Amino acid sequence: MKIILMGPPGAGKGTQAEKLVEVYQIPHISTGDMFRKAQKEGTELGLKAKSYMDQGQLVPDEVTVGIVKERLAEDDCKEGFLLDGFPRTVQQADALDGILKELGMALDRVVNIEVDKAFLVDRLTGRRVCRTCGATYHVTNKAPKVEGVCDKCGGELYQRNDDKIETVSNRLDVYAAQTAPLIEYYQSKGIMSSIDGSKSMEDVLADIRSALGSK
Ligand code: AP5
Ligand code: MG
Repeated sequence: MKIILMGPPGAGKGTQAEKLVEVYQIPHISTGDMFRKAQKEGTELGLKAKSYMDQGQLVPDEVTVGIVKERLAEDDCKEGFLLDGFPRTVQQADALDGILKELGMALDRVVNIEVDKAFLVDRLTGRRVCRTCGATYHVTNKAPKVEGVCDKCGGELYQRNDDKIETVSNRLDVYAAQTAPLIEYYQSKGIMSSIDGSKSMEDVLADIRSALGSK
């Protein structure tokens, strides 16, 4: 299964991806996670990405497309993959078309998780992430058993720099201006399913699975 998970910041892409990759046994390719990992490791890519991410701006297309191209060429993507947070511009979507063509692959479905802006600010500012394993929590919607501690690995939970209120509204504006046009882009290709992401996490998962077909 070759899938793109789309949706505004805080829509629940990462939350749903965690479950979907288990169900479909495919790798989870999140450009945001790749950039955060590079920052943690202090690489040149990480440094370059940090200045954009901290302001809620997109990392330039040429940088982002390059890392996705390398990742999709790896062996574990042959049978399928889940892209989370890529593509985010029409230029990235065109580049992805070219990459997949070169690799002899085609997308099965693009799932767009729709959530009203009013919910997104609360989801983003209340999110906490595990520093060790990357698991995602929310202070009220998905609280860990012990405050500040990851249920899965005992790691420390932290707030992403770009989840501070001052950056969140900029990210939502950038989404509306640069990423929302992709909805029409994929609708016109006839491979888009839109899902109501304001439902519970379990219901959203069930709706995505039925849009993707049985498994
Ligand atoms: P990225 O990490 O991709 O962030 P994003 O797209 O802004 O999306 P988020 O990760 O914030 O939200 P999500 O949809 O994954 O929500 P989640 O499941 O965590 O990108 C970060 C930055 O990297 C970008 O701003 C940019 O600078 C750069 N970047 C990345 N990709 C790029 C690209 N292609 N091109 C250029 N730059 C790029 O859920 C959010 C919260 O809500 C959690 O706390 C969760 O517990 C809660 N929640 C989830 N679902 C529900 C539900 N159904 N009900 C209640 N609460 C819920
Ligand atoms: Mg995410």
